[in-house]
Amino acid sequence: MRREQAVLSRLAIEGGDPVRTSPFPSWPVFDEREERLLLEVLRSGTWGELGGDKVTTFAARFAAYQGARFGVCVPNGTMAIQLGLKALGVGPGDEVITTPYTFIATASAALMLGAKPVFVDVDPETCNIAPANIAPAITTRTKAIVPVHIGGQPSDMDGVLAVAKEHGVRVLEDACQAWGAEWNGHRVGAIGDLGCFSFQAGKNITAGEGGIIVTNDPELAERCWSLHNVGRVRGGAWYQHEILGWNFRMTEWQGAVLLAQLERLPEHERVRDAAARYLDGSLADIAGIKPVSVDPRVTRHGHHLYPVRYDATAFGGRSRDELLEALRAEGITCVSAGYVPLTSSPAIRRALDDLFGPESLNQLGNCPIAEEVSRDVFWLTQVALLGDDEALDSIVTAIRKIQAAWS
Ligand SMILES: Cc1ncc(COP(=O)(O)O)c(C=O)c1O
Repeated sequence: MRREQAVLSRLAIEGGDPVRTSPFPSWPVFDEREERLLLEVLRSGTWGELGGDKVTTFAARFAAYQGARFGVCVPNGTMAIQLGLKALGVGPGDEVITTPYTFIATASAALMLGAKPVFVDVDPETCNIAPANIAPAITTRTKAIVPVHIGGQPSDMDGVLAVAKEHGVRVLEDACQAWGAEWNGHRVGAIGDLGCFSFQAGKNITAGEGGIIVTNDPELAERCWSLHNVGRVRGGAWYQHEILGWNFRMTEWQGAVLLAQLERLPEHERVRDAAARYLDGSLADIAGIKPVSVDPRVTRHGHHLYPVRYDATAFGGRSRDELLEALRAEGITCVSAGYVPLTSSPAIRRALDDLFGPESLNQLGNCPIAEEVSRDVFWLTQVALLGDDEALDSIVTAIRKIQAAWS
């Protein structure tokens, strides 16, 4: 159907024909590389990390990809953050400053260690933590700052590092969505003290589950390795445990799949980057639709999500969620309303109340911009960015069609 016709036809949600009937690209993507490496693991008889070479080879290659000297693989990104905070010395009663516009694991990792997440508001342009809000939140109990590179866009690491340095506080980057991303020429993950990545099923590089911690600090790297291997020391006896740790080891299956996925990542990054630029251009003149700004100091974007700000007044006052429902009916299935801010999360509220008492909930009203962003922003999910021009055009056509019907 030609674009003009599509825009003028009846909305699919009202019984009209949808703009798109074919699916968006499927995920995950694999080929004979994953198959070969998985068979190698199967036949080797070494299925766990210890004694195998897949996890350790992947850890070294991925760390190098991020410009870091060391990497320790773990079963998922949540465990990476928890272990990383523990390695930085975060414990009961400590405070960890972070953003509420993120996945729950960013904050639950601190709570699981008995530490208090302290939420500071985001930058309205980038939706990432606003460094200017960090210093006023620092107390004598602050141990770490956790900036999150949401959607693959690096946080303002100059600003974060400046506050951290001034106050002697450590920085753990939640880079769970930011493989390959770069702030001012430096790949994320080892800009701060530690960086954590996720390889969960929906991520741009995946083994179904998986995670890694990267760092340039040899002491921290050893501590992370020991913590992920039940407190063992390298070269020590099997039952020699010098500190309390977890069994947070990755399997060789995951290592094998990730080695193949890492080979494909640069090509996918190029496709995603081209798709994001194409969308930037084709969404630019639609009133009420504004792709979330990218800071000019971002030299490479990880392109996990393509976040868009929605202004209901340009769509007859219809809510963002009504738009998403109408888009899905038009066959644009790759959309998400995104996060509920963690300041409104029942789980976070309960945990704060249980651990720190009701007065610890007072901070939850301090992030009005994150609340606004959570209300107004929607995401095109990562498969959208693997779509060809026809797939991307169908997104734009569907938005125009809905706008024409509602205005
Ligand atoms: C920003 C962020 N932090 C942490 C995580 C946790 O990673 P995982 O799902 O691998 O535990 C995720 C992934 O879902 C994430 O997107």
